[in-house]
Amino acid sequence: MKLAEFPRHQLTFGPSPVHHLRRLSDHLGGAQVWAKREDVSSGLAYGGNKVRKLEYLVPDILASGADTLVSIGGYQSNHTRQVAAVAAHLGLRCRLVQETWVPWDDPMNDKVGNILLSRMMGADSRLDESGFDIGIRDSWKQALREVEEAGGTPYPIPAGASEHPLGGLGFANWAFEVAEQEKDLGVVFDTIVVCTVTGSTHAGMIAGFAALEDLTGVRRRVIGIDASATIEKTRDQVARIARHTAELIELGRDLREDEIQVLEGWAGDLYGIPVDSTMEAMSLGARLEAMITDPVYEGKSLAGLIDLVREGDIPRDSTVLYAHLGGQPALNAYHSLWS
Ligand SMILES: Cc1ncc(COP(=O)(O)O)c(C=O)c1O
Repeated sequence: MKLAEFPRHQLTFGPSPVHHLRRLSDHLGGAQVWAKREDVSSGLAYGGNKVRKLEYLVPDILASGADTLVSIGGYQSNHTRQVAAVAAHLGLRCRLVQETWVPWDDPMNDKVGNILLSRMMGADSRLDESGFDIGIRDSWKQALREVEEAGGTPYPIPAGASEHPLGGLGFANWAFEVAEQEKDLGVVFDTIVVCTVTGSTHAGMIAGFAALEDLTGVRRRVIGIDASATIEKTRDQVARIARHTAELIELGRDLREDEIQVLEGWAGDLYGIPVDSTMEAMSLGARLEAMITDPVYEGKSLAGLIDLVREGDIPRDSTVLYAHLGGQPALNAYHSLWS
């Protein structure tokens, strides 16, 4: 089945905006840096990258007859907030497992930001003491059973919607959206930089840009910056989901190894804990462009982009697209970084 034949329930306003980060580019003195903004692309509770993935899950959710979306993430998960938003939008119930993914010692961590928004939207959000892991969790399976035992019909959405069979389609479609916007803007992005943790955002892009390359001959680097600090798991998950998504959209060939690039070096030692490079990137984005990034995801991928441009790994004559995937609501739990 080709990508255009998969049913999609639109949750975004339309194509997400693309704009030139002139002051950041000047400051870095290398490649020209642009951003594509998933953080401002949807009216559903501040949007973000999961909205894109969920656009392709909604038809399946509706066809399944489920009455409760069941998902999982950390306390400050952007993903679970977007699942809660989609549940509210569809008039469904939502059960969320919020695990203790980040040892972040702030008394408001389980009260403000994403978790606050999920609760406002009516989600039954329950804390769990398990630590970080991007895989399938027992706590989530338990929540699915509990919904059933209470007479509900659950629809399972794993962490980041990544292990869902359709999880990569949203960002395969994103690649084609970029190609359309390039025509309007008169630019070609030879390099894409994206944050990767549970994997299906980056994986979808890999499959989508591979399909575009086969159509147009334009070869690009799609660089994932690991923010999981469990690099092997994330690399494996990206490769697996990219290959699965490529098959779904009938790419018709195996992905090359050079098409799957997940770089490490900016995650620090722990998921969710910022390091110096994260802080510098967040400050530069905010002070030069008023582009707000978070310490868990986007601050880390922006740090990767900054270093790759500074060091010339992304050459001076490149035009690079930074995929801004959202995540700002978590900042509320990280107020102490600036206070
Ligand atoms: C703001 C933000 N950026 C990046 C990511 C990483 O995306 P993925 O989990 O699809 O790798 C996430 C979610 O995990 C996120 O919420």
